[in-house]
Amino acid sequence: FRVPDVVNEPMMSYAPGSTERRKLQAALAKMRAKMPFEVPVVINGEKFFTKDIQKQSLPFDHKSTLATFHNASKDLVQKAIDGALKAKPIWEALPFNDRAAIFLKAADLLTNKYRYHVLAATMLGQGKNAWQAEIDAAAELADFWRFNTQYATEIYAQQPTKNAALTWNRMEYRALEGFVVAYSPFNFTAIGGNLVGAPALMGNVCIWKPSPTGIYSSYLVYEILKEAGLPDGVIQFVPGDAVAVTDVTFEHPEFAGFHFTGSTQVFKHLWQKIGNNINKYKSYPRIVGETGGKNMHFLHKSADAKHAAIQTVRSSFEYNGQKCSACSRVYVSDNLWEEYKAALISEIKKIKQGPVDDFTNFMSSVINRPSFDKIKGYLDDIRNGKTPNSSILIGGKYDDSVGYTIEPTVVLATDPKAKTMVDELFGPVVTVYVYPADKYEEYLEIADGTSAYGLTCALFAQDRNAVVIGSNKLRNAAGNFYINDKSTGAVVGQQAFGGSRASGTNDKAGSSL
Ligand code: ALA
Repeated sequence: FRVPDVVNEPMMSYAPGSTERRKLQAALAKMRAKMPFEVPVVINGEKFFTKDIQKQSLPFDHKSTLATFHNASKDLVQKAIDGALKAKPIWEALPFNDRAAIFLKAADLLTNKYRYHVLAATMLGQGKNAWQAEIDAAAELADFWRFNTQYATEIYAQQPTKNAALTWNRMEYRALEGFVVAYSPFNFTAIGGNLVGAPALMGNVCIWKPSPTGIYSSYLVYEILKEAGLPDGVIQFVPGDAVAVTDVTFEHPEFAGFHFTGSTQVFKHLWQKIGNNINKYKSYPRIVGETGGKNMHFLHKSADAKHAAIQTVRSSFEYNGQKCSACSRVYVSDNLWEEYKAALISEIKKIKQGPVDDFTNFMSSVINRPSFDKIKGYLDDIRNGKTPNSSILIGGKYDDSVGYTIEPTVVLATDPKAKTMVDELFGPVVTVYVYPADKYEEYLEIADGTSAYGLTCALFAQDRNAVVIGSNKLRNAAGNFYINDKSTGAVVGQQAFGGSRASGTNDKAGSSL
């Protein structure tokens, strides 16, 4: 048996007047008319309404609620584990093709039947514009589910090539002995689908704790998997208080894997919690994490300044700067500065910001109050001279009267180690440092040593020699390294994604499981 060959899901253009734009607009209007939706805990296919309720509001219109959801109690988390372990023997014993068929079907259901619905949930709940939602909740999610079946086939096919006389060795790829816990973030609907989809495809059972600020689209993803035939208990949908979920799951002897995307701080804390419990487990848990970043664009003196400026704007401000891969520090060679600055400012001035159902808006608002307050405080400190060696070049205003709105902002640093070149903000703020053109290698070294993170990096240069020097020097500063392209937008099956250093365990999403 072979699973069918897959290709990347073609992306819709949502051009003005197109059928797809009309359909998406209709889905948005329908969702707005019907919200708020109620999201339960789902264990063994059964819905639980715990009455311990939280809300998911629209980031760009925070008085409106997209969904209310029920937090799982510790008892329910325990029930989820018991149910998953019960479902496990049958699930892992299924022939691979039968498991793969479910994910291939889910990808087809997503792209053909539920595309506009899941996009609308991602747009309203997470504040993405139509194109950002399309690359995430339609294309990337379908790609993950489809490409994972190819990668799994390659893994299963790996067998010893040598056998001594009278022996025939065989290697068997088994699911982990126990259950996997998956923590998914708000910023990509696709990531949740992959954090549970990849382990489940390989025969594992999962306890899924989706982010509260991405809850409704995560629930739709879960429902699609169910409709595609996922047996009850294989993935348990357990929204809830992170502490309650980890208190129960991390204490269990059959805790066998942790699949996490989120902040570095939370990941380190959870890793420590796992470490403290290490003697309780049957097996060493597999820990896979993708965490924070302070991603850079680095411009050599031979770079095309205008092209680099456009790539900076896209990387730093698409999805309101909330991609983990977003550029948030730039090193510009001084010979390019005036041209780069002029292009940057002129591009930023074209940016329209507002609700996602107006398709002319490039940006909306940051995800929630804590994020808004953090960025606001940061910008205030810069404006009030409390942050040394940093000033605002353009933007810097904010307004939370309707949504959590922060203008696209460029900060200028006069010290390459300024706080603004180091701290991750997770919002539409990028800091630029201008370095002397003849000190390329010195500043590559400074850039490499400035941040603890190592997620993505983009080098801009026309000079081939500079490309080689730059890629070598910054080799460990990024899991994903781009040349003359922005630091965001890895495509499943083309650019495996995942970070080094404090950005993750460097297990790649989209290329291996
Ligand atoms: N995979 C996403 C990107 O590359 C985060 O931008």
